[in-house]
Amino acid sequence: MNIGIIGCGAIGSTLAKAAEDMEEVSEIYLFDKSHVCSRVLEDKLSKVISILTFEELVAKSDFIIEAASQEAVSLFCKKILEKGKDLMIMSVGALVDDDLREDLKTTAKKHDCKIFLPTGALSGVDGLASAAVFGIEEVILTTRKPPSAFSDVEFIKKEGIDLENLSSPKILFEGTAKEAVKLFPKNVNVAATVSLAGMGFERTKVKIIADPSTEQNHHQITVKGEFGSMNSEVDNLPFERNPKTSKIAAASAIAAMKKIVSTYWVGV
Ligand SMILES: NC(=O)c1ccc[n+]([C@@H]2O[C@H](COP(=O)([O-])OP(=O)(O)OC[C@H]3O[C@@H](n4cnc5c(N)ncnc54)[C@H](O)[C@@H]3O)[C@@H](O)[C@H]2O)c1
Repeated sequence: MNIGIIGCGAIGSTLAKAAEDMEEVSEIYLFDKSHVCSRVLEDKLSKVISILTFEELVAKSDFIIEAASQEAVSLFCKKILEKGKDLMIMSVGALVDDDLREDLKTTAKKHDCKIFLPTGALSGVDGLASAAVFGIEEVILTTRKPPSAFSDVEFIKKEGIDLENLSSPKILFEGTAKEAVKLFPKNVNVAATVSLAGMGFERTKVKIIADPSTEQNHHQITVKGEFGSMNSEVDNLPFERNPKTSKIAAASAIAAMKKIVSTYWVGV
C-alpha cells in the first residue's frame, strides 16, 4: 500500500518513520506547505518521497493521513474522498463544524471510502463507543492542565482569572462540549473526539481545570449508561518536537495506521 501524509510536523514525521518499518507499506508520500521537513525525511528514509502538490499526493496514495491543521481538513479532505481514497483525520477539532462533518461523511459514502478518527490524546474512546451502542446517560470529559496552558485563552483573560498565583486546582469551565470548543480552542480535538464517539456536542459535559500541582495534560472520560459505568484516565507527556501535542497522540496515529494497513486487529 502507498500512503500519503499531509503535514510533516510532530505527528506526520513520526508516522512516516513508523511507516518506513511496516512491510505492508511500499511508498510514503509526504506533503507539507513548508517543503523543508519532507525533503529532509526523503534523504533519511528510503520509502519517503517528498511531494510538491496536493494533487500529486492524492493521485499516488492509496490511503491518506491528514496530520496538519484544521485548515488542511477544510482545504483537502473532501477532495481526497472524491477521489475514492480512505482518509485518517488527526485534526478532529475541524469536525465541530456540522456542515463540514456531514459533507465529508456524505462524500465518503458516495465514493465508497472510509474516514478514520483516531483516539488521539485520549484513552477510553473504544469503551465509550461500545457504551454508546446500548445507550449512554452521561459522558463527562475532565481536562486538567498546568495553569500556563491557559495563559493565552481569551475567555480566561475576560474573566480576569489570575492563573499565575493559583495555589490549588481551579475549575475554569463546566458546560457542554459545544460551549467548551468555542471558549477553549486548544481543547478542541479531545472534546470533538469524545462528542463524536458518544453523545454529541450538546449532551457531552466538559470540565476544564487549571492545576498548579501538575506539569502534564490529564484527560479523564467518565461514562454512565445501560452497560454500567466507565472511567478512563491518561496523564500525557508532551511530544519533544511540539510540546502542544501529547506524545500519545502520535502513538495513537501510528497504532491506527498499523490497524488500517494490516490484516490482524486487536481492540478494534
Ligand atoms: N486528535 C488528537 O487528539 C490530536 C492530538 C494532537 C494533535 N492533533 C492535531 O494534529 C495536527 C498535527 O499536529 P502536530 O503536532 O503534528 O502539528 P505540527 O504543528 O507539529 O505540524 C503540522 C504540520 O502541518 C503543516 N501544515 C499545516 N497546515 C497545512 C496545510 N494547510 N497544508 C499543508 N501543510 C500544512 C505545517 O507546516 C506543519 O509542518 C494538528 O492539527 C493538531 O491539532 C490532534
